[in-house]
Amino acid sequence: MNTTVTHPRSIERLITGQPTSDGAGVKLTRVLTQDLQRRLDPFLMLDAFGSDSADDYIAGFPDHPHRGFETVTYMLAGRMRHRDSAGNEGLLQGGGVQWMTAGRGVIHSELPEQSEGRMEGFQLWLNLPAKDKMNPPWYRDIQSDDLPLWQGAGVVARVIAGATHGVQGAVQRDGTEPLYLDLHLDAGKTFEQPLPESHNAFVYVYRGAVSGVALQRMAIFGNAGDGVRLTAGADGARAILIAGKPLKEPIVQYGPFVMNTQQEIFKAVEDFRAGKLVQAT
Ligand code: CO
Repeated sequence: MNTTVTHPRSIERLITGQPTSDGAGVKLTRVLTQDLQRRLDPFLMLDAFGSDSADDYIAGFPDHPHRGFETVTYMLAGRMRHRDSAGNEGLLQGGGVQWMTAGRGVIHSELPEQSEGRMEGFQLWLNLPAKDKMNPPWYRDIQSDDLPLWQGAGVVARVIAGATHGVQGAVQRDGTEPLYLDLHLDAGKTFEQPLPESHNAFVYVYRGAVSGVALQRMAIFGNAGDGVRLTAGADGARAILIAGKPLKEPIVQYGPFVMNTQQEIFKAVEDFRAGKLVQAT
C-alpha cells in the first residue's frame, strides 16, 4: 500500500470560523459554513466548541429534528447525553465519537451531563447520497478506548472514519468515503496521507500549528497532488484532517434538513409539523 506523498496538495484557502450559538444557546465556532458546502462536498458543516465556562454550554441542544444527512460528534473533553426518537441513548465523553445517520428522520437531544469543567469537541455534518436520504436512521457510539489508532514516529492518528497507513477507522461509508483523523504530532514531525484528487479535503488545527495553518484555522486543500503533508510547528500540533468523495448532487438546506430539492424540504417540514418525520414512510 502506498503511504507516502510525493506531490503534496497546496493550501487553497485559510478560513477563520464564525462565532455563533446554536441549540438553546451553546456558544460555538462555525468553521465550515453554508457557503463552503459546494467546495467541500460531501461535508455540510463543521462546528468547533470549547469552553471552561458552563454558561457557554449548559443549555445544550434540546429536542430537534434532522433529515437527509449524518452527524458525527467527536468529544475531546466533557460529557454529553444523547437521546433520540429511534430509541437510542448514549453518553458521549472525552475522546469518544457518536455517529448518527438521520436518514428519513430523527428527533434527538444532546444535553451536557456536567455543570462545570471543560467541554470541547466538534460536530461534523456529512451529506448522504440522494438514494440514501430516506433510509432508516442509524446510530453508533464509539468510546475513546475503542477508536483505532495508527502510530508513526512522533505521530498518533486516531482513526474515526476511513483508513490511514493500513488502519481501518471506526466507521466506513461507501457513497462518500469519508476520512476523519484526529492527528497528534510532536514538534517538527510530519504526517502524510495519500488522497485521490477527486476527494475534497480540509484540516482544522486545535492545538499548536502545522505548516501554513495557525491555531483555530481551517485550511482547504487544493485538489491537485497525491495527498496531504502536515508538519507540526515547534510546539507540536493537534488537528483534525477530513476528506471525502463529493456527491455532486444538488444541496438544498433548510436548518436541520438537507435534501436535494425544495419540494423535499417542504415535505420534511410538513412531516415534522405533522409528527411524521420519524415514522416509516
Ligand atoms: Co442534532
